[in-house]
Amino acid sequence: MIVETHGLSRMYGGTVALNQLNLTIPQGAIYGFIGPNGAGKTTTMRILTTLLLPSSGEAFVAGHSVVQERAAVRRQVGFMPDFFGVYDSMQAVEYLDFFAAAYGIAPDRRPRLINDLLALVDLGHKRHAEVMSLSRGMKQRLSLARTMLHDPALLILDEPASGLDPRARVELRELLKELCSMGKTIMISSHILTELAEMCTHIGIIERGNLLASGDVATILRSLQPHRSFELQLLPAEGQSLAAALDAAVALLLNQPHVVAARAVVEAKLPHVLLDTDGDDRTVSTLLTQLVTAGVAVTHFAAQVSDLEEVFMRVTDGSASSGVL
Ligand SMILES: Nc1ncnc2c1ncn2[C@@H]1O[C@H](COP(=O)(O)OP(=O)(O)OP(=O)(O)O)[C@@H](O)[C@H]1O
Ligand SMILES: [Mg+2]
Repeated sequence: MIVETHGLSRMYGGTVALNQLNLTIPQGAIYGFIGPNGAGKTTTMRILTTLLLPSSGEAFVAGHSVVQERAAVRRQVGFMPDFFGVYDSMQAVEYLDFFAAAYGIAPDRRPRLINDLLALVDLGHKRHAEVMSLSRGMKQRLSLARTMLHDPALLILDEPASGLDPRARVELRELLKELCSMGKTIMISSHILTELAEMCTHIGIIERGNLLASGDVATILRSLQPHRSFELQLLPAEGQSLAAALDAAVALLLNQPHVVAARAVVEAKLPHVLLDTDGDDRTVSTLLTQLVTAGVAVTHFAAQVSDLEEVFMRVTDGSASSGVL
């Protein structure tokens, strides 16, 4: 685990910003950290980058304590804050050189490194442009280049996609995947689950300082869904109408264990049966066997992909409780 926190808490005066956070991020993951405004995302990220001390609990980055071994942690982490600072009359290349110097990178190594990073984030053509004249998306990419100057193992990016147009978002996603394939672990925050769903290997959902769920994407989805839905299509028997065939399948399913609901949807373009089950994969396979054994000509039997955004809205219903999982 490249990131590990144990009972991590942070108070601001009387406000609990983080409540007993137990979070782990495996090496090589793209970890999406999702939650509404004020959930505690930035607070967590600032603690993991040693910019903020926890009130209680512990956090480790690459095995180093964020309280006791701050210098070691900083060598392992690149942080992209949600706000790009103000830099008067400084060119992109000067900006990176300034931070490279701050990281103690030798002057003779810097030009090559900076060139490579500008190329990586596709800003080679803007090397001499003034930083403040860059568009928001370009500033984000420059900021990302900055986080990589000291070749950290872990990149912590606080809402890098906010304010980007759809095309820039796609490009950012591609860039992050590329960084992941270079061996980096990435922690990225967002309010928008769908923005992260496609590229993340793991997600954590936080609300009002409570981690509601954390783990690999498939497991989270499974644990958040009380039951799963399947769509099935079939062929009617000789002389039977499709509607009658669907009804017969529904009647059969409703008699099986673990079937929460089953109904025919005839008004759809492709009439089908919708099945809800609270069973496991074994149950699902038994249900299919039962249909086939009863002579139902099943042509399609597929799990419905659940909408991540819907899951998110259900979990973060505004009343954060640890009982969700
Ligand atoms: N410096 C501070 N002083 C007092 N309270 C703070 C401070 N920073 C954060 N908080 C409080 O801590 C809680 C968590 O804030 P945080 O910035 O971590 O949330 P966030 O998930 O990053 O939200 P957003 O999506 O809006 O960026 C909020 O209730 C916020 O008001
Ligand atoms: Mg924030």
